[in-house]
Amino acid sequence: MTTDVLVADDPLYEQLYDVRREAEDIGNLIDVNAVMPRLHQLRAQAPVHKGRVRELLGLPHHDRHVRARERQHFAVLTYDACEKAFRDPQTFSNSVQGNDNPANELTMGILEMDPPMHRAYRRTIQPKFLMPEALGWWRTRTIDGIVERLIDRMAQGDRAELNLDFCARIPVYTITTAIGLDGDEALRFRHAYLNSTSSSRNVTMEERIRNGRIVEDTVLGLIAARRAEPQDDLISFLIKTRLQLPGQPARPLTDREIMTHAKLVMVAGGGTSWRQMGITLFALLTHRDQFEAVKADRALIADAIEESLRWNPTAPYFYRMVMHDVEFYGHHIPAGSVIELGLGPANRDPSRWHDPDSFDLHREKLTNMAFGLGTHRCLGMNVARVEIETGINALLDAFPKLRLDPDAEAPFMTGGLEQQGVSGLPVLLR
Ligand code: HEM
Repeated sequence: MTTDVLVADDPLYEQLYDVRREAEDIGNLIDVNAVMPRLHQLRAQAPVHKGRVRELLGLPHHDRHVRARERQHFAVLTYDACEKAFRDPQTFSNSVQGNDNPANELTMGILEMDPPMHRAYRRTIQPKFLMPEALGWWRTRTIDGIVERLIDRMAQGDRAELNLDFCARIPVYTITTAIGLDGDEALRFRHAYLNSTSSSRNVTMEERIRNGRIVEDTVLGLIAARRAEPQDDLISFLIKTRLQLPGQPARPLTDREIMTHAKLVMVAGGGTSWRQMGITLFALLTHRDQFEAVKADRALIADAIEESLRWNPTAPYFYRMVMHDVEFYGHHIPAGSVIELGLGPANRDPSRWHDPDSFDLHREKLTNMAFGLGTHRCLGMNVARVEIETGINALLDAFPKLRLDPDAEAPFMTGGLEQQGVSGLPVLLR
């Protein structure tokens, strides 16, 4: 029986899983609901605007990517314009991601690559994330077990803070154990990882370097152990896989390539599913009629998840580097500019969705952009869906009277421009 992941009052949970604090630490807290009317106005004026979304919204300056600094910016706000950009990686490159570092290493792996290299590397890991694997391997190997244990723990009381006691714990445990680390290590490993990459004002450079070493030593140690004795985990899978770069013979991945894959999966999958599960539960708990419908017909959980992704995607902005001069929706955009793809605003484009600000799980099913589109479409989207669906199903089985705690602070959407979630989910279980 592992312990850390189930310890209710481990202070690390509160430290790591607080959407508001996450944004405050990097000087990026916004009033999520207040900016929406202004985004609607801007979108109605034009699909694309010169300038940063932040400037257009009158928010303080903040650079998400070091490579975007000092560059001209354009904000893309409609579904149609975002889709065009997402589907044209030759013009709109992902090389804006990642950190400049002396070794010229691609720190964010496939997320900062462009085709054809991107395709070659993505193919080495993708099979583990396709639907049969998500429902089979991921669900039975980790998700079902952690969900059951968390429910058992919560069942000992009458109240819970679902955001911390439930939503936060599922993804961190799932990803860490899928990679091959022990569940006991999940939280502390994530802490070290976040502090190695953090742009937080509270983390010194020495701490970043020290935490970076912890992460690298842990993952490299794991790779060495699995090379000696393979097991049923992601690292062992990546050791066996072959990389086929254009014009080169197929070869195994190096230790650093495996580590980069593992680190990206951890950063991309650890926080997103937590926040989106919280947003989905927030939507259901504050829309009682839809919540009752879901309880009566569990097939609607999948619709509630898709609608929460449309309504409030946890990661509403992604960035691209413009590789050559281009005419784009009435703008001449010079090479070297950065475009900000507003997939959050695009998901509320009234030319695609009626009454887009409302959460309505019964609305017509249309693809939304929460997982991106095209080349970089989220690798882990099936895993995320399975985590959230398994979690909500289990909550409804165990606590049919689940409701918001009327004596606690009412939850609300919060966070920074690029990372949003719910302030908390205090509930009564019985
Ligand atoms: C609800 C939860 C999630 C949301 C909203 C989300 C969103 C996204 C988005 C929008 C992208 C595209 C980025 C771009 O175009 O530049 C992306 C990429 C990615 N996501 Fe997710 N994600 C979620 C969960 C996960 C999970 C659980 C994992 C891993 C287990 C994961 C792994 C990745 C990876 C590796 C990429 C990079 C793919 C590539 O560059 O080809 N994500 N995600």
